[in-house]
Amino acid sequence: MTAGTGQVRFARSALEITVPAGATLLDLAEEHGVAIPSLCRGGSCGTCKVRLLAGHPKISTSHALSEEERAQGYILTCSARSVAGERIVLDA
Ligand code: FES
Repeated sequence: MTAGTGQVRFARSALEITVPAGATLLDLAEEHGVAIPSLCRGGSCGTCKVRLLAGHPKISTSHALSEEERAQGYILTCSARSVAGERIVLDA
């Protein structure tokens, strides 16, 4: 990792990438051929939910997730961004 970049690992896809800070995890997945379904891309439908296995993305909203989903570690990939110096691991 260099300054201003982070790491994202898509565990099921066996893909680990160096990414610029501030990119949505959904955009990063699409750019690298990892299929995550999406609809609203604005944090309101819940379609893009994926379980976070490690790391601390910058999350702008989780309103579309139930309490149970949050407890299970789900995040909305359209509303979660990469962070400099942080390694984020997703179950995708
Ligand atoms: S695509 Fe609707 S919440 Fe992410």
